[in-house]
Amino acid sequence: MSAVRFRLQAFSKRKSNSGSTFAFLFFKSNRYLGVAAVSTLEAMVPLFDLTRQYQTLKPEIEPVVLAQLESGGYVLGPVVEEFELLCARELGVGHTVGVANGTDALQIALRALGLRAGDEVITTPFSFYSAAEVIADLGAVPVFVDIEADTFNIDPRAVEAAITPRTRALIPVHIFGLPAKMEALRAIAKKHDLFIVEDCAQAWGATLDGCAAGSMSEAGTFSFFPTKNLGACGEGGLISTNSAQVAEKCRQLRVHGQSRRYFYDEIGYNSRLHTLQAAILKVKLPHARQWNASRRRHAAHYAGLLGDTPFVLPVETPGACHVYHQYTLRVPAEVGRERVMKTLSEREIGHAIYYPHPLHLQPVFAHLGYKAGSLPVVERACEEVLSLPIFPELRPDEVELVASALKSVLV
Ligand SMILES: Cc1ncc(COP(=O)(O)O)c(C=O)c1O
Repeated sequence: MSAVRFRLQAFSKRKSNSGSTFAFLFFKSNRYLGVAAVSTLEAMVPLFDLTRQYQTLKPEIEPVVLAQLESGGYVLGPVVEEFELLCARELGVGHTVGVANGTDALQIALRALGLRAGDEVITTPFSFYSAAEVIADLGAVPVFVDIEADTFNIDPRAVEAAITPRTRALIPVHIFGLPAKMEALRAIAKKHDLFIVEDCAQAWGATLDGCAAGSMSEAGTFSFFPTKNLGACGEGGLISTNSAQVAEKCRQLRVHGQSRRYFYDEIGYNSRLHTLQAAILKVKLPHARQWNASRRRHAAHYAGLLGDTPFVLPVETPGACHVYHQYTLRVPAEVGRERVMKTLSEREIGHAIYYPHPLHLQPVFAHLGYKAGSLPVVERACEEVLSLPIFPELRPDEVELVASALKSVLV
């Protein structure tokens, strides 16, 4: 039976003491089907809701956007430079370079650090596609190694075992906002003369032993995709580094590789951070610590409510400050992820599987020769993980609704 998809359109919203009530129009193939009222206290917890954050920042963002539109400066310029300086200060690094998105940030950082075709780069199979995609796009070889069962991060022991004479770099991803084991990874990199690029797309504000994600290696890369812990109203990305030389190279590569206007030393990219996005991000940046603190409070609330259940909850490793870009737990096989998802859907509670298929088994990497069973820890994780609603403006009563829906499956 083919899945029926409805387009839902909220057309009115009424506030009451017991929460918000929304009325929804249902459409199928643009045909109006009916109307339903949904109380947010009785049902409907979104996986994330960007409109709530916008409403709180509207008085700050709108004048800044209008002023920027009036100014006529739309690409790079002083506002981007100011934003880069603020980010460098926040991350505790010497330099940051704003680019068009987090994928370009990875690509440009790898190029700036001298990755060449044929080099091997060890990375995680449990992440969004970007890191593996750009490694392959540069003609290098992604080498996938298994993850730790509890943190979902790359396993340093597996990294060490995968090193060959052709290994040139490591890309750990601080997945879901939890820093990877950087001390062990740095020791391996030093021993084998490798460079590290931290993929911090999900980890703005995360720290390890007081050091910011993105400050613990040759370069860090960030995404400002709207749903990220620090998100733009569109796309954006950033590279962080302590090397003036690497920063300069990144600045060159983001404008077609030009060293001086209309002089091209190498093939580059058109990957400039838009001024409007930088202006919005400058407004949001001072709030990011508070937002991460809210995410951590929601995570602690979930943990309190779900601690005595068979669900396997996310962990925080010693010295790490997890910023819960996702709250991802494991549903043991005996409970059944499908059953849990069905209950959440029935109660209109947002949920997602990050990630349903490991990267080493994606068709695009079939030529690398991985088979089902090659990396058992990640393969099992993909069968068990489930991400629950988490965003700064989520309300405690919504966390309770999610937790009680999960518990209802167990009785
Ligand atoms: C871990 C990770 N790396 C890289 C990216 C790519 O970022 P962008 O979408 O800004 O290109 C993402 C985005 O989802 C991500 O989650």
